[in-house]
Amino acid sequence: MTPLLEISGLCKRFGGVQANDRVSFTVRPGEMVGIIGPNGAGKSTLFELITGFVRPDAGDVRLEGRSLVGRSTWEINRAGIARTFQKMRLFLGMTALENVMAATVERSRDLAHARERALACLGFVDLADRPHIPARALSTGQRKRLELARALATEPRLLLLDEVTGGVDQRMIPALMALVRRLRGEGVTVVLIEHNMRVVMDLCDRIVAFHLGAVIADGSPATVTRHPEVVRAYLGGHASP
Ligand SMILES: Nc1ncnc2c1ncn2[C@@H]1O[C@H](COP(=O)(O)OP(=O)(O)OP(=O)(O)O)[C@@H](O)[C@H]1O
Ligand SMILES: [Mg+2]
Repeated sequence: MTPLLEISGLCKRFGGVQANDRVSFTVRPGEMVGIIGPNGAGKSTLFELITGFVRPDAGDVRLEGRSLVGRSTWEINRAGIARTFQKMRLFLGMTALENVMAATVERSRDLAHARERALACLGFVDLADRPHIPARALSTGQRKRLELARALATEPRLLLLDEVTGGVDQRMIPALMALVRRLRGEGVTVVLIEHNMRVVMDLCDRIVAFHLGAVIADGSPATVTRHPEVVRAYLGGHASP
């Protein structure tokens, strides 16, 4: 089967930092892949490179066999990849509905259609009861849902989630996890960067572990979390992450 996403030999240097160092892995259609690694390991940079926000120094990103390198963020989104950001990028002064409409409007026949599609996305993330609340007034967990709704509004085949549970009240995490699982039910392939190991172990079929810009392990959650290099990267070799 052709992989949905194929990353090969991806390199990116920022000054003296090799943020991505010959990164290679593939994602099959329908998979849920977790990306783990200590702070500064290069996880978010990988997403920047895939989505065209940053250009790689070397290597390739292919979606169903077609290279995305050199294409604009807009074209890459159009090709079927959407993302959320570690530092959320919402329009805080705008309502939840307006935030999602900003993503649906260019793909819709008219404003009424854009509104209808935006409301459906808000419904999917369980925010349908508060379309007119300004994003500023939402909790962190609700803002994460709103970011997700914005990404879904572009009808992606591949969704990249950068720390969707980061900074979220512990009690809200199970509902967010259920939401991510529902995405898979909709046929969306998901790659998620996640620090919460419980979330990764629970959601993902596979884990790709990063350290100092490079992939140090790629396999089942059980294998990767016991991998000696992964244990060393996190804890200096004393225990599993
Ligand atoms: N635009 C940039 N300019 C300069 N350095 C950058 C830039 N983006 C990332 N870096 C550096 O590249 C390295 C990898 O950063 P990245 O944000 O990809 O790590 P991360 O694995 O996402 O970390 P975290 O878990 O803390 O989010 C870090 O040393 C970071 O400071
Ligand atoms: Mg990051």
